[in-house]
Amino acid sequence: MRRERYPAIEFPAIASHAVSDPLITLEHIPDHGFAEASGTVDGDAESLILRRDGTRVAAWFNICPHAGRRLDWAPGEFLLSRTGDLVCAAHGASFSPIDGRCTGGPCLGASLRAVPVVVRDGAVFLRDVSGTSATD
Ligand code: FES
Repeated sequence: MRRERYPAIEFPAIASHAVSDPLITLEHIPDHGFAEASGTVDGDAESLILRRDGTRVAAWFNICPHAGRRLDWAPGEFLLSRTGDLVCAAHGASFSPIDGRCTGGPCLGASLRAVPVVVRDGAVFLRDVSGTSATD
């Protein structure tokens, strides 16, 4: 299965803070699919890409490392390659759905910037990397 070719998700440590509201509920993200949500990260409102794998969710800023454009062609509407990679609607760069690494196109070798999230009670929250979360 194509997911086996990617390593486990590792989130880089970034400055973050607790957020009281959920970004989205799990039921609004198709399993093995993507959704878009807005969240406040380091004080800035950001568009985020969320990818669900069962009860696990990975998140990245919705900013392509090639030219800084959003990856979706319309809010929350993402293109996928035949192998399931996320494809930037602007110039076609493709990204691993597991770790956000660029797998082809004009920014090969770059990565989407990960955003740490946690799933609690069927909803996705930004994770507080200082050790506590809004739901603790
Ligand atoms: S902005 Fe995404 S490939 Fe150019």
